[in-house]
Amino acid sequence: MTRYAVGAMVDTAMRLPGSELDAKKMPGHWVLARLGKRVLRPGGLSLTTQMLDAVDITGKDHVVELAPGFGSTANLILAKHPATYMGVERERGIATTLAWRIGTPTTRVTHGAADRTELPAERATVVCGEAILTMQTAAAKRRIVAEAFRLLKPGGRYAIHELSLVPNSLPLEIRENIERELSASIHVGARPLTQSEWVSLLTDAGFVTDRALEAPMHLLRFGRLLEDESLPRTLRFLANVATHGVERRRVVEMA
Ligand SMILES: C[S@@+](CC[C@H](N)C(=O)[O-])C[C@H]1O[C@@H](n2cnc3c(N)ncnc32)[C@H](O)[C@@H]1O
Repeated sequence: MTRYAVGAMVDTAMRLPGSELDAKKMPGHWVLARLGKRVLRPGGLSLTTQMLDAVDITGKDHVVELAPGFGSTANLILAKHPATYMGVERERGIATTLAWRIGTPTTRVTHGAADRTELPAERATVVCGEAILTMQTAAAKRRIVAEAFRLLKPGGRYAIHELSLVPNSLPLEIRENIERELSASIHVGARPLTQSEWVSLLTDAGFVTDRALEAPMHLLRFGRLLEDESLPRTLRFLANVATHGVERRRVVEMA
């Protein structure tokens, strides 16, 4: 039976991943997190909301979220009162803190890898993951999507939110420039795909793509910051940017 796919894309007490790294070198999303940002995905909260509306989570659903990070999407998912929620996060500190924050008998977060969750097959009706595939190699992308397929019951829904190159016919030279500039600014190997390539990745894994949603990559634009983080957190982020020189240069590079 068919499984469907949809594309859309601390607590300061906690020791942030990469804290041991020099801010000049650490992955861009951890620089942003260190400055107080919590939504770390290209299309922001509004695309996340559209993505969740598309998969239409109800009280009957068993949800697995791959790479929940600080849990802003987990909060949106839990607001829909699914039967169960399981987050699988690679960073132990984040997994532990999120488990502590949202943990209940039916809501868990485990420290694990998205391509090898060690969860039973067909345990989920919804799997979602945001801003995790873009930074993976082609092989790792395939493994994670295959793991999502394995976790889903027949008829299950898979939602991803990733960086997409536009248009589908983007010349290779421009693409390579974008990858180089992105990787240089976020210090993580960024390998975004075109929309048709994301769809092929999902189709090759056995999914039928039901919908593709898009939003501009405005992660660090003031309007998007306000939308994603709220006014107090935006002001704190901007104050931190103003008072942390190395991080500020990184933010300027990424903007
Ligand atoms: C850019 S952040 C996105 C976090 C969150 N999904 C969001 O949209 O705000 C990437 C997240 O993916 C996690 N991650 C990266 N590779 C992973 C893997 N192979 N398995 C599980 N988590 C992974 C990182 O630890 C981090 O929390």
